[in-house]
Amino acid sequence: MQETATQATSVREGWGTRAGFILAAVGSAVGLGNMWRFPYVAADTGGAAFVLFYVLMVFLIGIPVMLAEFSIGRKAQLSPIGALKQVGGRTWAPLGYLYVATGFLILSYYSVIAGWTMRYALEAALAGFAVAPADFFGQVATGTGALMYHLVFMGVTIAIVTGGIKGGIERVVALVLMPLLFVLIIGLAIWAVFLEGSGAGYAFYLQPSLGEVLSLDSLGAAAGQAFFSLSLGMGAMLTYASYLSRKENLPSSGVTIAISDFGVAFFAGLVVFPVIFAFGLSDEIGASSVGALFISLPRAFAAMGGVGRIVGLIFFGALFVGALTSAISLLEVVTSSVIDEWELDRTRAALGAGFVVILIGIPSAYDLNVLSLFDKIAGEFFLVVGAFVLSVFVGWRMKDPTDELAQGFGSRSLLKGWYWTLRFVVPIVLALVIYQVGASAVDLVRQTFGGG
Ligand code: TRP
Repeated sequence: MQETATQATSVREGWGTRAGFILAAVGSAVGLGNMWRFPYVAADTGGAAFVLFYVLMVFLIGIPVMLAEFSIGRKAQLSPIGALKQVGGRTWAPLGYLYVATGFLILSYYSVIAGWTMRYALEAALAGFAVAPADFFGQVATGTGALMYHLVFMGVTIAIVTGGIKGGIERVVALVLMPLLFVLIIGLAIWAVFLEGSGAGYAFYLQPSLGEVLSLDSLGAAAGQAFFSLSLGMGAMLTYASYLSRKENLPSSGVTIAISDFGVAFFAGLVVFPVIFAFGLSDEIGASSVGALFISLPRAFAAMGGVGRIVGLIFFGALFVGALTSAISLLEVVTSSVIDEWELDRTRAALGAGFVVILIGIPSAYDLNVLSLFDKIAGEFFLVVGAFVLSVFVGWRMKDPTDELAQGFGSRSLLKGWYWTLRFVVPIVLALVIYQVGASAVDLVRQTFGGG
C-alpha cells in the first residue's frame, strides 16, 4: 500500500480485511494494562465482584465511548485533530491536540516499561532469573540500561509503523503477534492449573467481596481501568477506524474487541496469582502491582529452575508482545496526525514522532516516581477527561452520529439506546470518575513535588 501513496493525502491507506482491523484494535487494547494492571486491581478491589463490575463498566461506558470514537474516525477518514476539525469545527480541534499530547506522554513511559519486559525475557533466555529479584528489578528499572531498552523498543515500534497500515501494522499485529499472544497466555493459564498449591491464588484473585466494590473509589478504578485497557479517550480507536470503509459493522466490531480484551485480562490473572501462591510468595503482593509482576513472579520462576526459565520466557515474551501491539497504536495516533496535519510522508512522520517520544521518555527511564506521575496524569486523568469531552461532543453537538454507525449495521433501536447512554449515562459516570481520579492525581503531584 505504501508504494501507491504518491502523496500522503491523496489516497488514504486502509485495512486489508475486517479481521485485520479487529485484531489490530484488540492488539491496541491488549497490553500491559491487561497483564499488569487488571489482575492487580481486581484482586485488590473485590475479586469476582470487581470483575463483574468491570464488565458492566465496559458495556455501559467503554463500548459506547469506543463507538463514539469509531463514528468520528470513520466519518472523517482523518486522524484526531483533522477529524474533530472536520466533524465539529475549529472549537473542537483542541480535543484533538489533547489526544495527540496524551499519546506522546503515555507512549513515553509505556515504552520504558516495555523495555523492562524485553530485558526480563532476554534474561530468562540467556542467563536465567536472578536469585535476588528485587535487586535485579532495581538495576533494570532505572538508569542507562532502562534507557537503552526504551530506545530499542521504540526502534522496533517505529519500524513497524513505518510499514503502513496494511503492510506494516496489519501484517505484523494481526497475522503474527496477536495469534502468538493468545496461544501463550492460554497455554500459561492451563499450565498454572496443575501447579501444586495454586488454588489459594484463584481464591485470592476471585474471592468476591461486594462491600469493597460499591464505593466511588472502585467505580473510579473500574472505569479508569476500562478506559486504559480499551485504549479509549485519546483517539487510538478513532484513528484505527479512520482506515475503515463504510461497509464495516462498527457496533459488532466494538463488542468483539471489548470481549477479547477482557478475556486476555481475565486469563492473565489466572496466570499471575496461582503462580505466586504456588510458591508461597503471597506476602510480597504489597503496595505495588509492579512488585507482583517484576519481583514476585521472577522469584517464582527462579525457584522452578529450568522450567521456570522457559515459563518465564513465555510470560515476559507475551508481555512484550502485548506491549508492542499497544505501542504501535499509540505511535500510529501521533504519526497519522503528523501525516494529516503537516503532510509529511509516513517514514518521516513516524521517525520524527518516535524521536520525540524517546526524548520525553528519558526522565521516566531514570526515575520511577516520574513514571508513576506520567501514568497518573496521562494514563488515567487525561484519558477520562478526553472521553468525557468526546461523549459531550458526540452526544450533544455532532450531527447524526447514529447515522454513521447505522452504515453497516441494521438495528436502529439499538443505536437509539447507544445514543441515549452516550448523552446521559456516560457523562455523569465520567464526571464522577474525573473527580475521583483528579483528586488522586493532585495527591500524587503533591507527594512527588511537595515538601518532602
Ligand atoms: N490498552 C493498552 C493496555 O491495556 C494501553 C494503550 C494502548 C492505550 N493504546 C492506548 C491506553 C491508547 C490508552 C490509550 O495496556
